[in-house]
Amino acid sequence: MTKTNSTMFQFVIIFMLTLMIQLSDESEFLVDRSKTGLIHVPKDLSLKTTILNISQNYISELRTSDILSLSKLRILIISHNRIQYLDISVFQFNQELEYLDLSHNELEKISCHPTVNLRHLDLSFNAFDALPICKEIGNMSQLQFLGLSATQLQKSSVLPIAHLHINKILLVLGDSYGEKEEPESLQDLNTESLHIVFPTRKEYHFILDVSVSTAVSLELSNIKCVVNRCPYFLNVLSKLQKNSRLSSLTLNNIETDWYSFIMILQLVWHTSIEYFSISNVTLQGYPDFRDFDYSNTSLKALSVHQVVTNVFRFPQNYIYTIFSNMNIQNFTVSGTHMLHMVCPSQMSPFQHLDFSNNLLTDIVFNDCENLAKLKTLSLQMNQLKKLVNIAHMTKKMKSLQQLDISQNSLGYDKSEGYCPWAISLLSLNMSSNILTESVFRCLPPRVKILDLHSNKIKNIPKDITGLEDLQELNIASNDLAHLPGCGAFSSLSVLIIDNNAISNPSAHFFQSCQKIKSIKAGDNPFHCTCELREFIQSIGQVSSEVVEGWPDSYECDYPESYKGTLLKDFRVSPLSCSTALLMVTIGVIGLVLAVTVTVLCIYFDLPWYLRMVFQWTRTRRRARHIPSCELQKTFQFHAFISYSEHDSAWVKNELLPNLEKEGIQICLHERNFVPGKSIVENIINCIEKSYKSIFVLSPNFVQSEWCHYELYFAHHNLFHEGSNNLILILLEPIPKYSVPSSYHKLKSLMAQRTYLEWPKEKSKHGLFWANLRASILIKLMEQAKEIDHVHS
Ligand SMILES: *[C@@H]1O[C@H](CO)[C@@H](O)[C@H](O)[C@H]1NC(C)=O
Ligand SMILES: *[C@@H]1O[C@H](CO)[C@@H](O)[C@H](O)[C@H]1NC(C)=O
Ligand SMILES: *[C@@H]1O[C@H](CO)[C@@H](O)[C@H](O)[C@H]1NC(C)=O
Ligand SMILES: *[C@@H]1O[C@H](CO)[C@@H](O)[C@H](O)[C@H]1NC(C)=O
Ligand SMILES: *[C@@H]1O[C@H](CO)[C@@H](O)[C@H](O)[C@H]1NC(C)=O
Ligand SMILES: *[C@@H]1O[C@H](CO)[C@@H](O)[C@H](O)[C@H]1NC(C)=O
Repeated sequence: MTKTNSTMFQFVIIFMLTLMIQLSDESEFLVDRSKTGLIHVPKDLSLKTTILNISQNYISELRTSDILSLSKLRILIISHNRIQYLDISVFQFNQELEYLDLSHNELEKISCHPTVNLRHLDLSFNAFDALPICKEIGNMSQLQFLGLSATQLQKSSVLPIAHLHINKILLVLGDSYGEKEEPESLQDLNTESLHIVFPTRKEYHFILDVSVSTAVSLELSNIKCVVNRCPYFLNVLSKLQKNSRLSSLTLNNIETDWYSFIMILQLVWHTSIEYFSISNVTLQGYPDFRDFDYSNTSLKALSVHQVVTNVFRFPQNYIYTIFSNMNIQNFTVSGTHMLHMVCPSQMSPFQHLDFSNNLLTDIVFNDCENLAKLKTLSLQMNQLKKLVNIAHMTKKMKSLQQLDISQNSLGYDKSEGYCPWAISLLSLNMSSNILTESVFRCLPPRVKILDLHSNKIKNIPKDITGLEDLQELNIASNDLAHLPGCGAFSSLSVLIIDNNAISNPSAHFFQSCQKIKSIKAGDNPFHCTCELREFIQSIGQVSSEVVEGWPDSYECDYPESYKGTLLKDFRVSPLSCSTALLMVTIGVIGLVLAVTVTVLCIYFDLPWYLRMVFQWTRTRRRARHIPSCELQKTFQFHAFISYSEHDSAWVKNELLPNLEKEGIQICLHERNFVPGKSIVENIINCIEKSYKSIFVLSPNFVQSEWCHYELYFAHHNLFHEGSNNLILILLEPIPKYSVPSSYHKLKSLMAQRTYLEWPKEKSKHGLFWANLRASILIKLMEQAKEIDHVHS
């Protein structure tokens, strides 16, 4: 079973590896050697190359041997080189080749080859005289793009490709075009989109008919007609009316006069064209003040981009009136020096107006009722100043949903009063202005998308109301110090607030903003302190897609030691952050300590140990540096032991063996009994022969034995207060009341508490004996020293 499984597993692995190799084989292998000063096709190309870019070099020749080995080559870009002649048969071994860009070379001639079947062939911007259309191109059944260039056009030269349906044809006419023109030469082109580039800087005197019947989209570049009001070009345009398929016209790089410009518009108005775009226009002269015929148009969208005019000293209202009354849906005028736009004189069909990048001021569309169908308006990059004026402007635009007034100099101050925004307004772009927090008192009530990035907002006022519909708020690149909650914006789902001055974002953000789907708060100067920890934790609790740019654009800015650390990697111990936790921890540790000490005291008698250890160490300290040979000089015994008969079992079984095994010599009055003497005499004899006197104290001892000693001590002042010669062992506790009041000595000795207590627990016995022996020996040593001292 296991064996078959592992075989299966190996098989799957091998299969997957094979698949991966095949897949990687099929993926593109791009070699970019553009702009490298090549004068030949490089020889060191990988055989895997599928895309080769050798554009912008100095290559003048392409040979079979250059590319023979590149059997996988699909895309070859040799534009902007110096190739003058090409035999397409050089590609006969590159069977995969489908995209060939030879534009911007110096080609005068090509020879074709039947086996090459391209999708994209660009021969534009070359030096061909006649169209470089050989009959083999007619066999390129896949051809989608064909770029051509010529200085002469002949109807016959187009025929080989007349049967192909090509998506786009680019035709670049050389500088000497127009000498022997055949107006009908393009009629047989079969293409959806035609782009003709006329010779630059050459007056438009052409009669070429550009209304190719198959074309849906037509683009004409470089039209210069500044003399005689452009009759040739207007004539060419008027022919477009024939072609009812044409729906899109683009004119680039036009140099003309105001009259012709209006005429161009007028002509296009009566064609089938729906989308008309004019860009890069240079205008001269003055317009003729004549009526514009708006009737019968197919036009839906007109765009005018980049207009430069050297004369604007005429009543411009004429132009503005023509523009504002256009009966189209979409109208764009951008990148012009347009100063104003008037209100349409009747209800306008305008739905989308883009007047970005002009010089419009606050009075634009002031009090204009006829833009009630307008849905979107862009006044981006103009000269707008007061937000309240713009709000007034929208008041009567009943359908306005989107307004872009970004990149102006808009400001708003509360004192400027109420902002009567169009109630329909849903999206408002006010980015890149000079608005402050007071803008929150001048917002459309139902706005859903609000872009306020790059302004001067320092905070979001707490008391704002009525933004329940707001879904997207971009307030990046302002001066906000705090992350706002969603109190005022209960529908907020997208918040962009990066590049502000937020150092301690609130951890309650996600609680407050239940509907948030995306927040982008990176690139703020985060202070990596305890408070931030909670915010980081709260990020950890939401799905990672919600926090945009996490973790890379969230870095600590402070303290210095954490600068540049990703918030993701910022760690600080919980203890150092929470005072409460710290107090609790200290409390708990204290409590544990107290309990331990108590337990030790109660169960293990810690004080006893401490006392013992204290005595032991004291004795040890004193014992240092005393030579042992000086011991046992004068006395016969080390110690005399006195005890009650009642305790004799303990003395004989415990005390004696433990002392004598260490070589301590003991005098016992019954053992070392001198016959013929009384007990007291014997005892005194023993005391006098011993360094030490050990008394084993117990209630019995106090009652039966101590009387001998009280008397003795009274006569011989041998044991003065604090004397070292006495060692008291407390075998059993002696209640104070049981000591007769006449025993002064005993009382004073016991009061000093210098006795050794006999512990009941076996585990403590070792320490007890050690301590006792040390006491005997140290006292011996000291005595020996003292004696020495006296003798010398
Ligand atoms: C080829 O290189 C030129 C110049 O670097 C570049 O502009 C062009 O986009 C490149 N073309 C492709 C398809 O990579
Ligand atoms: C074009 O292709 C057809 C058949 O596919 C072939 O008969 C004809 O010779 C080819 N013409 C040229 C010019 O290659
Ligand atoms: C605009 O058109 C002029 C000729 O009318 C041309 O010289 C210039 O390069 C064009 N500018 C752009 C950006 O196409
Ligand atoms: C408007 O177009 C229709 C057909 O499309 C035509 O019959 C009519 O004459 C045109 N009217 C004008 C004023 O051009
Ligand atoms: C008009 O402009 C709007 C917004 O830019 C666009 O969505 C729409 O497709 C345009 N309509 C036409 C007919 O170009
Ligand atoms: C607002 O306009 C700016 C350009 O000024 C643009 O980058 C931004 O995407 C626009 N915002 C929205 C929400 O469309």
